[in-house]
Amino acid sequence: MANILIVDDEQSYRQLLTLVFEGDSHTVRTAMNGRQAIDALTEGPADIIISDVKMPDMDGIEMLRAVRSTQPDLGVVLMTAFASVETAREAFKLGADDFIQKPFDVEELKLIVKKTLEKQELIVENRAFKRAQRDRGSVKNIVGSSSKMDAIFQMIETVAEVQSTVLVTGESGTGKELVARAIHDQSDRAERPFISINCGAFTETLLESELFGYVKGAFTGANSNRKGLFEAADKGTIFLDEIGEMSPAMQVKLLRVLQERRVRPVGAHDEIPIDARVIAATNRDLRAMADEGTFREDLFYRISVIPIDLPPLRERAEDIPDLVAHFVAKFNAQSGRNVTVSPRTLQVLENYAWHGNVRELEHTIERAVALERGEEIQPERLPDHITNYNPERIKAEFDLPENGIDLTAHLDNLERTYVVEALRKVSGNQTKAAELLGMPVRSLRHLLDKHNIRSLSAQMRGGE
Ligand SMILES: Nc1ncnc2c1ncn2[C@@H]1O[C@H](COP(=O)(O)OP(=O)(O)OP(=O)(O)O)[C@@H](O)[C@H]1O
Ligand SMILES: [Mg+2]
Repeated sequence: MANILIVDDEQSYRQLLTLVFEGDSHTVRTAMNGRQAIDALTEGPADIIISDVKMPDMDGIEMLRAVRSTQPDLGVVLMTAFASVETAREAFKLGADDFIQKPFDVEELKLIVKKTLEKQELIVENRAFKRAQRDRGSVKNIVGSSSKMDAIFQMIETVAEVQSTVLVTGESGTGKELVARAIHDQSDRAERPFISINCGAFTETLLESELFGYVKGAFTGANSNRKGLFEAADKGTIFLDEIGEMSPAMQVKLLRVLQERRVRPVGAHDEIPIDARVIAATNRDLRAMADEGTFREDLFYRISVIPIDLPPLRERAEDIPDLVAHFVAKFNAQSGRNVTVSPRTLQVLENYAWHGNVRELEHTIERAVALERGEEIQPERLPDHITNYNPERIKAEFDLPENGIDLTAHLDNLERTYVVEALRKVSGNQTKAAELLGMPVRSLRHLLDKHNIRSLSAQMRGGE
């Protein structure tokens, strides 16, 4: 049975309706005007309000407005002796569930109340259903119980409730896309599309028509109108991955879109309003890029309204056992196996400094599950650079000279030497070299650029 709040300045109506609804075993409270009603709601919740419109000290319309701003689902039925079309229209606009003209047949009011309560029940059920769906969704896929990951989970939850632009940063493979999806799945945009685009994978012109769409005849090959991804993500989320790779010209265009909330398809005259939540991600230091002038500072501020920085895996080794278990289960299921991880292997995995982060760990486990013939994954199933990794030994190999060294230059030199040596070993094959160096190919390419040795890799390949 329901909690009913009856609001009327006329005592006779309060008494009559109390009798009627208590007779149907509802719980009834009364208030004499809108203000009293609001106070009553702070003292205890109600399922439905039946309120007069004309009352001194906050009328029914004002009360409805106040209630709706905090309790969008509360049932509200208005009754008035002065039912003008105007009041009725306003009442519905403010979200009244129904409206009845005084004097009325009590049976008719009962029916309206019954209908309103049923509608509410549906809303509540629907919400619970959606929440359950969300809980089953992608947040569950994010493994981690370290305090650093706890903070991330909280952040996801908070951020899901607002519409602000989010910038997810973190090294390669730390789970940026996973987090973006989780934010979407937890938000009220969950039923709408989540559209992901890698800004680094397109040329400038292609990226523009992908994001904003184009009209027929805009360029050769544009044989019909095409919607852009911003439009396709309507009421959903658009994930702009690798935003640090965006060209300066595209940065200007994106900034405008975020400011105006409108896009202009390539070749079109008119702009189209958009309603897509933007989540951007990068593994580069946009702050530093803005300082250097390679990323627009105004765009940086616009997209980093809420920053989420994912910690590298080596800074949260506590998460490794859970992640290992998660991936072993995943690859067992995929391959119909049932292997476990030996304690020694787990120790090695926990000790390693994961530069490729969770992705590298995932690949390592995938490979180990495939290679292991026994029931327990042994350390030998891990790549050598992981099994042989020993920070102590590395330390022992260096002696600091009496008069010191230029550490930055020295490390730079060492880095270059390792990269060249790795490339030499695999005849310039970048994928294999990256593997030898325990890093994603992307990072290797950054190093090739940094040390200006991209051509060297090509030469070595050529000489195969
Ligand atoms: N906390 C985690 N729990 C479970 N799986 C994870 C976690 N973090 C990352 N992963 C997995 O690791 C892989 C890499 O994650 P993701 O693609 O989200 O990383 P990223 O930060 O976007 O990487 P990149 O910068 O290279 O694009 C995915 O397969 C993802 O499912
Ligand atoms: Mg990614």
